[in-house]
Amino acid sequence: MPKITIIGSNMYELTTFTDHLPKRGETVAGYDFSEGFGGKGANQAIAAARLGADVDLLTVIGKDYFGRQQRQNYADNDINSAGIINGSRGSGVASIFVESSGTNRILVVKRANDELTPSMIDAHQALIRDAQIILLQQEIALATNYHVIELAKKYHVPVMLDPAPANLELDINYVVQVKFFTPNEHELAAVTGLPTYDLADIKRAGQTLIAAGLENLLVTLGSKGVLWMDQHHAQLIPAFPVQAVDTTGAGDAFAGSFAYYYTMGASIDAAIKFANQYAALSVTKYGTQRAYPTKKQMAKMDLPFQFE
Ligand code: RIB
Ligand code: NA
Repeated sequence: MPKITIIGSNMYELTTFTDHLPKRGETVAGYDFSEGFGGKGANQAIAAARLGADVDLLTVIGKDYFGRQQRQNYADNDINSAGIINGSRGSGVASIFVESSGTNRILVVKRANDELTPSMIDAHQALIRDAQIILLQQEIALATNYHVIELAKKYHVPVMLDPAPANLELDINYVVQVKFFTPNEHELAAVTGLPTYDLADIKRAGQTLIAAGLENLLVTLGSKGVLWMDQHHAQLIPAFPVQAVDTTGAGDAFAGSFAYYYTMGASIDAAIKFANQYAALSVTKYGTQRAYPTKKQMAKMDLPFQFE
């Protein structure tokens, strides 16, 4: 089984469903509510684990009821516990508001996630050294991510960086050191400072990263698919067509499943194709982690691509 280490955030999600959002000073009655598990790092870990990878998640959970629920969730999904650290602050939370039109708004408060420091990374170096791939996102401090990129380089372990949510401070000198960089078009615009309105723009912006030495750029374009660029070519790999009901967490489903398929030996374009299918399945259901299928569930589905 491939050994994958994911370093990043976890959030306890509190989702309110409503016909319309309250205006300033107004109180509105919503029609439904649910609790769930999210956070970009944890989501990627759950996707890889449900496909069957041997997953370590290095994350700081809160000192409260939400944190205890998170720990149980990782155990339930067979994620190794060595990197699940008890923080001293409250849990990271995501307040999510879904309108009946399907539009959603997410307000994230990182809290315990801010305690994931470079020294904590040092204390868990073995999780980097022994992995086949490391996955990073941007809901923890950039300095922590930079430190991981340096350690991974020392141990010759490839890194995949998903620059979500966009952070204008992201240092391009670290971006070009990762093996896979996976922005969406908005995040690509943020990191390059260039427009990304259409495919020609996106290629032009992407080319600046390739010219600066980046090995693989995977621009995730939602229903348009994924643009893969490397030093030799650019290729658009189409999305898997589905009826989307909730796209929250689709990028995380893509990253976690890509890491699984790639470390299982799939070529980059094949891994993108399989990960596109996995992300597409996740948008056909409400929620983030709750919408990620297991390998067993997928074997029973009538899918165009079955991975053996
Ligand atoms: O990428 C989606 C995730 O972003 C959600 O799970 C939410 O918790 C936020 O962290
Ligand atoms: Na979903």
